[in-house]
Amino acid sequence: MKKRTHHCNELRQEHIGLEVTLNGWVHSNRDLGGVIFLDIRDREGRTQAVFDPADLPAEVFSVAEHVRSETVVRVSGRVRLRPEGTKNEKIPTGEVEVLASEIEVLNRAEVLPFPVDDPEAAARVNEELRLKHRYLDLRRPEMIRNLRLRSRVATATRVFMEEEGFLEVETPTLFKSTPEGAREFVVPCRMAPGQFYALPQSPQQFKQILMVGGVEKYFQLARCYRDEDLRADRQPEFTQVDIEMSFIDREDIYALIEGLLRRIWKSALNMDIQTPFQRMTFHEAMDRFGTDKPDLRYGMEIVDFSDVFAGSGFKVFNSVIEKGGVVKALNVKGMADATQGQMETMTDYAISHGAKGLAYIKVVNGEWKSPVTKFFSDAEKQALIDRLGIEEGDLILFAADQWLNACEILGLIRTYNAGLLQSKGQLHLDPMDFRFLWVIEFPLLAYDKEMNRWYSSHHPFTAPVDEDVAKLTSDPKEVRGQHYDIVVNGVELGGGSIRIHQPDVQRTIFQDILQLGEETIRERFGYMLEAFKYGCPPHGGIALGFDRLITLLTGSHSIRDVIAFPKTAKGTCLMTESPGPVDRRQLRELYIDVRAPQQKKPDKPES
Ligand code: AMO
Ligand code: AMP
Repeated sequence: MKKRTHHCNELRQEHIGLEVTLNGWVHSNRDLGGVIFLDIRDREGRTQAVFDPADLPAEVFSVAEHVRSETVVRVSGRVRLRPEGTKNEKIPTGEVEVLASEIEVLNRAEVLPFPVDDPEAAARVNEELRLKHRYLDLRRPEMIRNLRLRSRVATATRVFMEEEGFLEVETPTLFKSTPEGAREFVVPCRMAPGQFYALPQSPQQFKQILMVGGVEKYFQLARCYRDEDLRADRQPEFTQVDIEMSFIDREDIYALIEGLLRRIWKSALNMDIQTPFQRMTFHEAMDRFGTDKPDLRYGMEIVDFSDVFAGSGFKVFNSVIEKGGVVKALNVKGMADATQGQMETMTDYAISHGAKGLAYIKVVNGEWKSPVTKFFSDAEKQALIDRLGIEEGDLILFAADQWLNACEILGLIRTYNAGLLQSKGQLHLDPMDFRFLWVIEFPLLAYDKEMNRWYSSHHPFTAPVDEDVAKLTSDPKEVRGQHYDIVVNGVELGGGSIRIHQPDVQRTIFQDILQLGEETIRERFGYMLEAFKYGCPPHGGIALGFDRLITLLTGSHSIRDVIAFPKTAKGTCLMTESPGPVDRRQLRELYIDVRAPQQKKPDKPES
């Protein structure tokens, strides 16, 4: 058999006259006046092959004539210039074609469940069908491009980390259950009946132990598993660029990640990104944007009016301020025509956060349409005009609540309106305009009202900011953590922290703050506390969501488009039909009794 001489993206004018052999799939088959034109496609591109009945044995021509799309073929022939007027500028090989002398069918293809030759048609195919036949979906150039970029970024990451002196160390994926954070996937263990492993949510504990073990600089492209509700940017199994370092502080992490991302953006997109990145405290991000992952490509900032409405005749606002709350407002330009349904959605955001309603002003035909302005004094109205720059077409929304709640309500409303303005064509956010941001100084702890206890806002290993350690037991809510997130265009790309390395501080967190019992601490974290006793270096680290990173770099809409075999929003794989039932015998061996009805088929994915 003749071997491939070129890929389908390679042939140019300089190859004219050369005998070549191509391997690939029949992308299209056209009959133009008795001459057959086959587009041959492989991973790299497309080349046109011409079968002319005038200079071919009938049986060769007949094969070409009848070959169906997506048949796997070998085509040999001579490269020639395409006649004037038939050149195709859309593909790099469009100036030439192969005048075929041979065609061999290497394997046939049945009629496809959906077309893969036309990118626009393929994009309209519903995702369920694409995921069921992922092998066909992967033949689309966009998918190959995403996988290629993913591979290149993984390599760039490894090369960079190696240059920086890091060791890539693999950590176990059969771990134990540590019910902090997200729900975990558990794995029964035959050799220890009734006992379970858990798949790791991240290699957090192992990487810290590696620091105790003297590895000093660790990284891993690590598989992580979380049994959480899925969204467009979440998968139950995903990959992190996981990093940990000893003898460092926060600045070292910022510098390392800025260097890594600079390298990645250069190698993936040939783009020079500006470093150092902007930094913003959690407090400022919430106060101005109502989220800890602001998209800095647009403004629409939240403005405070607590000083204006203190002592106001409008009781709703005044009473909140008297109780130590705030009044904040957002001006959404061009949304005064928001529909009833859209207003209800926004009001629901407010109500689901515990507010009684959502006061608003719509500026239409020079007038303020609002259920509340009749209660405002002239001075209050003037303050609104001055601070919000109110004009025709504006939609002003108010939140009166405790500070964090008010910020969160307007943050949700801000993002929601940005989406509406984008679909109306009034806001253009370029996916290739990357705004990097470090969000820093998160509160170390958050309070769970229902459970009546504190929990770690990041994870329980995060160190408090040095000057706040004294407040740990006296005023926990004021303690800031040495935790940082890297945010790009409204996406939380990664997060990490400087860790607690003193066993006594770690014990205070577990015992006094998180109120874990002695037995629980020993069961879950005993080995860590033990390890920390024997010379634990100060250390810290970070993990970047690798799938989210590739989603950003490719400008994809969904994380599923950058993963070869993703799960649906229901956590199912439509191609292999997993999860699925297991054999009775297998269950018996594991001493497992299944009570829930066993589902035969995986659920449908989100539309
Ligand atoms: P964290 O939980 O913030 O930190 O995770 C780090 C990053 O991983 C990505 N990520 C996900 N990507 C896809 N699907 C998911 N379900 C998913 N969950 C998280 C995000 C996130 O920013 N051990 C710590 C890191 C550390 O402290 O060093 C950790 O896992 O991009
Ligand atoms: P009420 O007096 O409760 O009917 O509220 C008067 C107006 O204020 C209504 O338009 C409510 O939607 C709005 N409103 C009520 N509570 C809040 C709040 N916490 N923040 C902003 N607006 C509110």
